[in-house]
Amino acid sequence: MAVPSSPFAFALCQPGSEKFLKAEMKRLRPDLHPAMQRPGLVSFKATAEPFDVSRPPRAVFARAWSASAGPAHSAREIVDLARALGVAAAWVSPRDQGPPEEVPPALLAAAEADAARLRDELSRQGVGSEAPAGKLVLDVITAPGERPVVGWHMHTEGAPGAGGRWDYAVPSEAPSRAYRKVVESLRFTGARLSPGDLVLEIGAAPGGGTLAFVERGARVLAVDPRPLDAAVLARPGVSQTQATIGDVQELPPDVRWVACDAGIPPADVLAALGRLRPQLRGVAGLFWTLKLVHESDAANLQRTLARLGEIGFRSPLAAQLPAHRRDLLVYARGPRGA
Ligand SMILES: C[S@@+](CC[C@H](N)C(=O)[O-])C[C@H]1O[C@@H](n2cnc3c(N)ncnc32)[C@H](O)[C@@H]1O
Repeated sequence: MAVPSSPFAFALCQPGSEKFLKAEMKRLRPDLHPAMQRPGLVSFKATAEPFDVSRPPRAVFARAWSASAGPAHSAREIVDLARALGVAAAWVSPRDQGPPEEVPPALLAAAEADAARLRDELSRQGVGSEAPAGKLVLDVITAPGERPVVGWHMHTEGAPGAGGRWDYAVPSEAPSRAYRKVVESLRFTGARLSPGDLVLEIGAAPGGGTLAFVERGARVLAVDPRPLDAAVLARPGVSQTQATIGDVQELPPDVRWVACDAGIPPADVLAALGRLRPQLRGVAGLFWTLKLVHESDAANLQRTLARLGEIGFRSPLAAQLPAHRRDLLVYARGPRGA
């Protein structure tokens, strides 16, 4: 099915990353000029070809793209657009106001209620929210007191849902929000952990990420000078070397995945991976949570990815996922021969 194009596009991003997204787009797609900007949403005007949402730009800082129809005046207008495009569903989602942990709960609740009202209204007018893969979906991004911004995209198998988010539960025993980062990194990359796979987790404490890995059947060797949460450490398959990665000389021969969420500069992570690389021949993939400590870390990202390639990690890519704040995922396949 051909996806209708538009002279406008919008991308959802993490609030605070708008400037990184615009800088990235200037390099990737200079034909797309920034138009409107809100926290968590940047729209672009296509100055050459119309925007084709079936081939969205591979921007690190955009977590979802829509061909844009712009702000809507009423629910009726959204329903009319849904009918004209023949979409399967409308996904109404509140625009991110900031990291969920930092937004006042009353503001979050108001934004959710506002979106729910519009969702109900659209549903009453025959536009529901169930969309199978392979169907066009209307994206309706709301914020209290603002006109909803409306666009569309083709939903594909495994892709995130409304608002560029995946739907999953965080167990109450997860000792940190890093649980979310691991779940989303696995969903985004499609990396398949096999039962018993050994994950070397650098910077694992208190253990949200460890919990996500063991829940999926993996074993985890945590390397962190701080102790893991006792309940996580007690899980079958979890062990810890209480040290910095710089102090680790010998790794088990069967490390299958490397995860790194240590609060150390990218150059130090690269140095550790380079030093340990001869022992990582059987590694299938690397999940690295790269901290954007300085503005220059985003600008240096391509160099960091290139360096990872030089060390022997293949097809490195980066993406800022909904669970990230001032950080992002760097994923690479393991060294050649894995
Ligand atoms: C953001 S926390 C990690 C959160 C963790 N991934 C989770 O799932 O809960 C960063 C961790 O990196 C650890 N860290 C800092 N420097 C490190 C190093 N050189 N080697 C290993 N771990 C390090 C810190 O002790 C801290 O526990």
